[in-house]
Amino acid sequence: MAQAKQDSDAANEFGYRRFKLGSFTFERDEYFVHVGWPGGNHMLAADAFLRAMMRDLAWSFFYGTVNFDQVFGTTNHYGNVDVFAGLYNPAYRKKNKHHVENFKTEDLKAMFEAMLDDWTNEGFDPFAAPEETGTAFGPKHGNNRAAITRKRLTARRMAGLKDDIPLRSDAAGNIVNRQLADVAQDQPELHAEPGFENEVHAFNFFGYVSRSDVTWNPSVCSAVKDSLICATTEEYMLPVIHGNDRVEWFVQLTDEIHWDVCDRDTGEPRARVVMKAGDVAAMPADIRHQGFSPKRSILLVWENNDAQLPELYAKGKLKPNPVDF
Ligand SMILES: [Fe+2]
Repeated sequence: MAQAKQDSDAANEFGYRRFKLGSFTFERDEYFVHVGWPGGNHMLAADAFLRAMMRDLAWSFFYGTVNFDQVFGTTNHYGNVDVFAGLYNPAYRKKNKHHVENFKTEDLKAMFEAMLDDWTNEGFDPFAAPEETGTAFGPKHGNNRAAITRKRLTARRMAGLKDDIPLRSDAAGNIVNRQLADVAQDQPELHAEPGFENEVHAFNFFGYVSRSDVTWNPSVCSAVKDSLICATTEEYMLPVIHGNDRVEWFVQLTDEIHWDVCDRDTGEPRARVVMKAGDVAAMPADIRHQGFSPKRSILLVWENNDAQLPELYAKGKLKPNPVDF
């Protein structure tokens, strides 16, 4: 396992620190992030890189693969993480130009957090929709620690229950998003039998999600064993291309999202899926996908957190698609 060692070099001419991760090197300038490894190098736009990094960290490397673009990304092995260049890119693979190193999750997390912190300028929020934030570009100026250290809200049972994550409100600073101003904010009436007040629960899901100030960041609002109901608001484009290691169910609750769906390992296009309000899709376990949301929309993501799933799919014991039509 490679060492996630931070370079102690002083800042470069643009004011940004350089980082070393095993034999990977990372540097940013006013517009771009430069990634190097033995035998190759790659450039990504700084705003796209920071948006992808923000999701990768907020999800703790998520399920499966987080492709920052067609070349660079991470694959989660739950306890350790692969960092790769060209691993899921047929042209790199064909010429044996891909590079992959494995790191302990906590080491990689600390390193990526330091990079995100140093490279995010004041006024740029990598979690926000482009309309709602400033620019990522230019020489280093300030930071936006408040934005990049938002805690991911994860319900243990259900949002709003006793000793669980709270519901959102104006009073708590969670204002209704500008594009979801027409979402009703009333709450259902609850009449639990005496003794069951902590077992029976309901809340206005649309109202809750309309108050999310981040995009493309599914947060767990209810959990029943491994069944996680994750709510998220989406606007502009998913900043990563997600490579699944299990099936994900999507329920489009408002507006629409267009999905590019490709083969997980090669990136070969498989489908374009246009999901309108009320549509349900099961995204197979062997695909990568990226979503595009022309206006802010509400998406319910249903995740199965069962730790055995990646192996069952990898060994072909489960079919990658849960439904045949
Ligand atoms: Fe996915």
